[in-house]
Amino acid sequence: MDDNAQIEQLRAELHRHNYNYYVLNQPEISDFEFDQLMRQLQDLEARHPELADPNSPTQRVGSDLNHEFQQVVHLRPMLSLANTYNRQEVREWYERVEEGLSGQKFQVCCEMKFDGLSISLHYKKGRLVQAVTRGDGVQGDDVTENVRTIRSIPLVLPEGADYPDEFEIRGEILMPWESFEALNRERAEAEEPLFANPRNAASGTLKSKNSAVVAQRRLDAYLYYLLGEGIPGESHYENLQAASRWGFKIGPQMRRVETLQEIYDYIDYWDTERRNLPVATDGIVLKVDSLAQQRSLGMTAKSPRWAIAYKFMAERQSTTLREVTFQVGRTGAVTPVANMDPVQLSGTVVRRATLNNEDFIRKFDLHIGDRVFVEKGGEIIPKIVDVDLDARDEGLGPCVEFITHCPECGTALVRYEGEAAYYCPNDTSCPPQLKGRIEHFISRKAMNIDSLGPETIAEYFRRGIIRDPADLYEIRRDQISGARGQKDKSASKILQSIQQSTGVPFERVLYALGIRFVGETAAKTLARYFKSIDRLSTASLEELLQVNGIGAVIAQSIQTWFQNPQNQWFVERLRSYGVQMELSEDELSQHSDTLQGQSIVISGVFAHHSRDEYKALIERHGGKNVGSISAKTSFILAGENMGPAKLEKAQKLGIRVVNEDEFLKMIE
Ligand code: IVH
Repeated sequence: MDDNAQIEQLRAELHRHNYNYYVLNQPEISDFEFDQLMRQLQDLEARHPELADPNSPTQRVGSDLNHEFQQVVHLRPMLSLANTYNRQEVREWYERVEEGLSGQKFQVCCEMKFDGLSISLHYKKGRLVQAVTRGDGVQGDDVTENVRTIRSIPLVLPEGADYPDEFEIRGEILMPWESFEALNRERAEAEEPLFANPRNAASGTLKSKNSAVVAQRRLDAYLYYLLGEGIPGESHYENLQAASRWGFKIGPQMRRVETLQEIYDYIDYWDTERRNLPVATDGIVLKVDSLAQQRSLGMTAKSPRWAIAYKFMAERQSTTLREVTFQVGRTGAVTPVANMDPVQLSGTVVRRATLNNEDFIRKFDLHIGDRVFVEKGGEIIPKIVDVDLDARDEGLGPCVEFITHCPECGTALVRYEGEAAYYCPNDTSCPPQLKGRIEHFISRKAMNIDSLGPETIAEYFRRGIIRDPADLYEIRRDQISGARGQKDKSASKILQSIQQSTGVPFERVLYALGIRFVGETAAKTLARYFKSIDRLSTASLEELLQVNGIGAVIAQSIQTWFQNPQNQWFVERLRSYGVQMELSEDELSQHSDTLQGQSIVISGVFAHHSRDEYKALIERHGGKNVGSISAKTSFILAGENMGPAKLEKAQKLGIRVVNEDEFLKMIE
């Protein structure tokens, strides 16, 4: 046998063993034998670089190359599901389906709702060609390289099976409880921040820029939706069975049922039994099985009518409140935190929970020693949801009082009108506020200075090297090398990544400034509208309010921020170090006046971009997006399913209807 043939054979064999092990959980050979085969293949591949293949089993170990992710537009938008938490609504959904199908018989597929992050896998001629995250549903990140390291995702499908030449399969990427706990144990030892739940861990891992890290973290994937021309069956259930034959991991809990009672039985069973599953689930998904019936039921703007998610109530536990401490955040907001006897909740041990604000504490008339109920809902941070008043006895401690002064700097707290939170107003010298602002400034979505972390910031802060983010650009090598055992090499790395941050685009700089209420999205919108910090800082309230998506609260906050001389000085210092204070030529070139002075109505459902993106495109090209059709409307940008009333009105007024493709040509 020549090397080429042997490589082929080893690859096929390893794909098969991989499937036996990771999908079926039934290995035929020992780990040792597997490793031997793998080593053989690695050796052969090393000798024949011309025969390299990204889908070879050897590629599952990932690479150390760092890179940003490409954005990819989904072949078909990734919709989400309508949610419900109660049975009555499940019944109502069932009855709507019955009615929608005019009394036809139908079957329903019941599946687990896996709590990870959704992924779209694209196969051509039996090979994985692309893996894309959900993103905003219209486009997501190309994470193919990372996904290749997930052992239960087949890279090459068995020859001769009945899969179409090209198809898409969607599912959920998960971090099994076991991997999650092991990962957090390691992180605790390394004093790294822990992941709050497996979903966050899976998401953080999948977005890692280093696929070798992904490979180590042991992710898993369950697939639940097959799409494309020429998929084998006219039934969802049968299509997933087919996918299972091709080597995909399908949730083995899937059942096809005929009555509402059976749906309820399924829900009851899995509500408790799901605790024994190896991965996190947060509900049940119900889908009409027949694809013909699915088509006839159709979609609403956001989700299919043929499916619904029944979500389990968050798990609730009771424990004893021992102490309330107060945390000061980056904005100066003071959050009360309950410290409790440890309690097991949805797979993790919980000791602390948020108490939100003063009103919340008052509402429960909370006392130290109270028996409290804790829940971990959709949020990462557990919260107290109730107090057991009947459990109160003699030994009850004092009533919980909200503090009057900042626990960090001693300044008297203030409560602004209409707000529930207390703030420490000392934003010029309260340590957690200053540190928080620097941490925000360097964070990934802001200036992305990733060689610095909270501990280093705290250390520099304590030593008086930095007090505000602009100080970062003044750090000298001699101040930081040797500190905290830091080697010269890491000092160089830090200085380099600070220097590199001067290339971060203006919209992210604007976000990094930490102006209250100016989040990522608002910063983007503002940067694109005003194009430079000088135009933004001198904009009147009226001008600010003209920007789509900018309301009174944000506008006011921007004005207040720029009026403060300290902030003006801060901006000038950043500018002097070369930080971007305007859109670059490149970004400017994405703008035009093509739609100058035009009022455009958006209607219907779109395939290439989301509504918000079309809104942004209209603005970027000088147009204005308006809500309703009038004689002043220039044209209507119409997707699928534009409402009949709108269409009629447009025709009456003689307003042009432009479809998606025509529109994209217009602004090309
Ligand atoms: S079907 C059009 N099935 O839940 C139907 N989704 O809001 C597409 N999910 O984004 C989804 N388990 O990430 C489907 N068995 C399952 C699921 C599932 C989890 C997630 C998925 C989706 C979200 C729906």
